[in-house]
Amino acid sequence: RPGAQQWVPDGGDVAALRQAAHACRGCELWADATQVVFSEGPGDARLMLVGEQPGDHEDREGEPFVGPAGRVLADALAAAGVDPETVYVTNAVKHFRFEQRGKRRLHKTPDVAHVRACSPWLRAERAAVRPHVVVALGATAARAVLGRPVRVGAERGQVLDSEGSAVVVTTHPSALLRLRGRDGWDEAFDALVADLRTARAAAG
Ligand code: URA
Ligand code: SF4
Repeated sequence: RPGAQQWVPDGGDVAALRQAAHACRGCELWADATQVVFSEGPGDARLMLVGEQPGDHEDREGEPFVGPAGRVLADALAAAGVDPETVYVTNAVKHFRFEQRGKRRLHKTPDVAHVRACSPWLRAERAAVRPHVVVALGATAARAVLGRPVRVGAERGQVLDSEGSAVVVTTHPSALLRLRGRDGWDEAFDALVADLRTARAAAG
């Protein structure tokens, strides 16, 4: 069966998973990426944040959410009163998917097939960390976490339930980047913060 499963160590803790992911060939995305970007944060966190996939910065540095979207996320976490050191941060897809345009590498949304192929890693992370709440940032993450298509606008901010943890769906911080300095920024930012507060409260 295609996908990451054969590379995922049984019952591995986060450190073991992170180490094993370097070898993953569960889909074709490893080939053009610089490196796998696994996760950051404590292996016993109550709150897990799931993004879409690493971006250009993350691909170069090997850490999730270190680029512009990561700054928006950090600001939103601070506004929601969440200590970033206590949060486990990962992505639905662990390799950067992009289109080369001259010297630039343009983000390309992962296909459902990539989300599926990579899902054994996320499943193993959830089993290892056992967070009280998983926050899905955007539609790709929400599909990965809930295992079904999700319309963020229709389901955001509710405390849902899936595979033994609460799940809160919200917008992806990259979606906010497009609004920076424009009408709509404050509202969009406040809505993200409100969803993170809901998640914080549900995490206890
Ligand atoms: N966007 C994501 O979804 N994840 C990252 O790690 C960075 C940007
Ligand atoms: Fe493996 Fe996921 Fe990378 Fe594909 S994107 S090679 S499944 S780690």
